[in-house]
Amino acid sequence: MSSSGRESWNTRVGFIFAAIGSAVGLGNMWRFPYMVAENGGAAFVLLYVCLLFLIGLPVMVSEFVLGRGSGASPIPALSQPEQPSWRWLGVLFVASGFLILSYYSVVAGWTIQYLLDSLTGHLFTVTPEAYFSEITFGHSSFMFHLLFMVLTIGVVLGGVERGIEICVEILVPVLVVMMLFLVAWTFLLPGASEGYAYYLQPELQNLVQVYGIWGMEVPFLDLAMLGAAAGQTFFTLSLGMGAMITYSSYLNRERDLFQEGAIISLSDLTIALLAGLMVFPFLTAFGLLAHAEDHEISTLFESVHAAFSQIGGLGSQFFGTVFFATLMVAALTSAISLLEVVTSSLMDRYDLPRLQAAAGSGFLIFLLGIPAAYRSDWLAVADGIAANLMLLFGGLMLAVYVGWIMHDPERELSKGQQWNVSGLWLFCLRYLVVPVLFLLFVQNLYNVLWNVGG
Ligand code: TRP
Repeated sequence: MSSSGRESWNTRVGFIFAAIGSAVGLGNMWRFPYMVAENGGAAFVLLYVCLLFLIGLPVMVSEFVLGRGSGASPIPALSQPEQPSWRWLGVLFVASGFLILSYYSVVAGWTIQYLLDSLTGHLFTVTPEAYFSEITFGHSSFMFHLLFMVLTIGVVLGGVERGIEICVEILVPVLVVMMLFLVAWTFLLPGASEGYAYYLQPELQNLVQVYGIWGMEVPFLDLAMLGAAAGQTFFTLSLGMGAMITYSSYLNRERDLFQEGAIISLSDLTIALLAGLMVFPFLTAFGLLAHAEDHEISTLFESVHAAFSQIGGLGSQFFGTVFFATLMVAALTSAISLLEVVTSSLMDRYDLPRLQAAAGSGFLIFLLGIPAAYRSDWLAVADGIAANLMLLFGGLMLAVYVGWIMHDPERELSKGQQWNVSGLWLFCLRYLVVPVLFLLFVQNLYNVLWNVGG
């Protein structure tokens, strides 16, 4: 406990692991491969890696500066005496948390179904396509969405120290070992090399789009792809909705915030790249790539399902069980951070006890997620609005606030600093992050409105 009576992390590793646990989840394993398949492969991967470091990392450091600087959850962190008018941004963050967790929990519920059916062996008696379409939308999806929300609420109720920290410290290393194993295995499959080419050899012409402006043809970077890559960056790093503000608010002042941010981003990137390295060779080895390109949200599930079925017998059951168990846990450690933002905001704002704040908001989130458990189009729309619009807008406003409005943001960053990058960081935030995010937000808004309207 800190002197103010606020809970704090037991150890440095506690914070890093919890932040990595938040970042690493369905965003890396499920969303990243399907975004790559939807956007035509390696060119998207390249853009995503660039954006992760040029935009994602500076925004993450801004969240840390705000969180550790204020020692508070998003709404109070943004209602400092000198700038009370920014409270609405904290409210937007909480709203984003509600929306994201509502459908995240549905997809996480699928992982529980895959887990149970791997355990019994039922999974390997049906084809991947048939199984996926049977369980993903309908009553069973609803039930497992409910179960997953109950689990999430349970961990958040344990509080910061006991619940989140212990859970994450054991489970993140298990995930890494499991994935390394799968990546090594896919490497040996015949047909894998085309998957590597699709995933890793960018065709540079795919990055460029010709725009007609005043009758002229102007080639420029493909903004739609860039906008999707930015949404993915925010989603996977848990940025743009105050999760990192909340976690860093429990942090003390001996740490170098930039270094922590770099470690978290690199770990998250590693897991996403590993996920691609296992999924794409599986897809080409089993002839599923074309199918994945049309039914993107099934990409991860169907490819690993097909792969595990190949092993046969108890081997399938064993590998399937371990894999889906790790996936579920990765989803759980991320879901915890989403619910924690909402919970700690309500606790700070309304002086609610943790039990009421977590259980009440968790229940509302469960209700909000029900349509996504029944309809794939709802899930896709909610995901598009949340990641490509709400998170991007949240990140943009955060960069504007920390970069241009907050008084002397470099001071908080300089505490505990080992790498002297505050000048570079602030410069990047002001002149790169703000304009690029503005452009991409407008682009994504146009895309969403156009898709809805047309
Ligand atoms: N980053 C998580 C994932 O990749 C999801 C997540 C957790 C998240 N907390 C978040 C996304 C906050 C956006 C904002 O699965």
